[in-house]
Formats: sequence, structure tokens, C-alpha cells
Amino acid sequence: QAPTRHEAENATISQGVVESNHAGFSGTGFVNYDNVTGGYVEFAVNAPAAGTASIVLRYANGTTTNRPMTIAVNGTSVTRDFPGTGAWSTWATTTITAPVNAGANTVRATATTVNGGPNLDYAEI
Ligand code: GCU
Ligand code: CA
Repeated sequence: QAPTRHEAENATISQGVVESNHAGFSGTGFVNYDNVTGGYVEFAVNAPAAGTASIVLRYANGTTTNRPMTIAVNGTSVTRDFPGTGAWSTWATTTITAPVNAGANTVRATATTVNGGPNLDYAEI
């Protein structure tokens, strides 16, 4: 099953804005989280069958401070580090595995520190 890419700029965004001023993103831009705790990007993803899915998140963090986020899949969260990538135009991926339902699922990435999240490009699942 090839992964489906879900662009962050097309997802539901709370306390963040779509921008395109740092090169290397997929699609038409990325989400710049506001520099606050609690901003999120929520992806609506369809799974063909119930099971364990790999979810790849692509991000950039041009600071040297980790910007951890909780990744909630259908409400069950794990916390993930998003360390500095060296530049805002240098993108990296991190992968989580989580149980998904057949059909509709939500994947929400929420900033857990006052620095906000990293810039977020997409989720693939
Ligand atoms: C800079 C950068 C943004 C980034 C922000 C931040 O303003 O241009 O893309 O989101 O820093 O620190 O969160
Ligand atoms: Ca930001």
C-alpha cells in the first residue's frame, strides 16, 4: 500500500498560518505554527483497513531548540521530538506507528511548548 500524502496547508489549522517563504516544501507551502503552546494541524486520513499504520511527518526547525509535539491518532497521543534541522529550508522526517481504523481517522500534531511546533510540510500515511 503506497502512502498517501496529506499536505499540511490543506489540513485543519489552529494557531498557525500557511507560508511558503522557506524553500524545499512539498505542495504549495507549509504550516508555520504560532509560537505558542497548543497550536495544531489536524489531518483527516482514510485508511483502507484497520491495522498499524506508519505516519511520516515532514518538518523543518531552523532553531537549535527541540519543538516537541503530541501526535494524536484518533485521540491517542504520543509525544515526539522535532529537533533542529539546521535551517528553515532543511526538511526532515519523523515516523510514528499507530493503530488506525478502516475508513476515517484523524491525526493531530499539537505543539507542547511556548515555542510552538516546527514548520510542518506534510503527513504521509
Ligand atoms: C521564523 C521562520 C518561521 C518559523 C519561525 C519560528 O520566523 O521564518 O518559518 O516558523 O521563525 O521560530 O517558529
Ligand atoms: Ca512558527
